[in-house]
Amino acid sequence: MSATDSLFTSFALKSLHTDNRIVMAPMTRGMSPDNKPSDASVEYYRRRAAGGVGLIITEGTCPNHIAASGYENVPYFHGEDRLAGWKKVVDAVHAEGGKIAPQLWHCGGMRKRGTLPEGDVDGYTPSGMNVPGKVARHIMTQQDIDDVVRSFAEGARDAQKLGFDAVEIHGAHGYCLISFFGRGRISGPITMAVQCKPEAVLSSKLLRRAGQKWALTSQSCCAGRNGSNKTSLRVSHPHLSCWKPFFSH
Ligand SMILES: Cc1cc2nc3c(=O)[nH]c(=O)nc-3n(C[C@H](O)[C@H](O)[C@H](O)COP(=O)(O)O)c2cc1C
Repeated sequence: MSATDSLFTSFALKSLHTDNRIVMAPMTRGMSPDNKPSDASVEYYRRRAAGGVGLIITEGTCPNHIAASGYENVPYFHGEDRLAGWKKVVDAVHAEGGKIAPQLWHCGGMRKRGTLPEGDVDGYTPSGMNVPGKVARHIMTQQDIDDVVRSFAEGARDAQKLGFDAVEIHGAHGYCLISFFGRGRISGPITMAVQCKPEAVLSSKLLRRAGQKWALTSQSCCAGRNGSNKTSLRVSHPHLSCWKPFFSH
């Protein structure tokens, strides 16, 4: 068997079974007016499954928190209408033999005040900073953290109800979760985030020491609601994307 042949063999990880090992990466589309997956979204995902993708991770979709979204026309993962839209997506992908997981996404400090439909709501970060030294975002409180964790958990619960095969939590690319993987001073009144040594790199060690309770709490809440074998956490290297400015010394 060649290296590429193995891509076309089935895959099973505990309760998740796919026909092959091709996984589609999450890709924001900005094509959901009223933040609802449209019939065009249904067709978009159906075509990917028909084309042979074993597991589709959807574009980032925002759980029910006031500051979760940072962009217009992205799909939300709460509200009857929007969830009904997602249900059509799930059914269409399953009809083609594919599997699908929503990527639950909180934009954190990448959100700019004014972004519709929430409008006058700041982005949320642990330090209030989105560039070094400049507090221009809302400084998250413990209550805010709890609210965001709750929103992820509710999203995971709804994903299961709708028939999704798994859930992915977006913990990468400078958004809310990774802004808690601090590598420097965190000025907000955050008790869950601890400082991480500068030499830390993305590894299980980093996850244990820095991503720690926040990411793990989110993940375990989702796992609790969605079946413990079906929750993934996407992370990226802290030096990539917009990570660094958040916690510059
Ligand atoms: C238009 C676009 C939208 C993306 N949206 C998301 C997203 O919603 N969630 C996410 O985790 N990554 C997102 N990404 C990152 C991709 O999942 C992927 O990691 C990136 O394109 C690099 O993959 P590649 O090296 O195969 O090109 C996006 C990338 C692009 C180009």
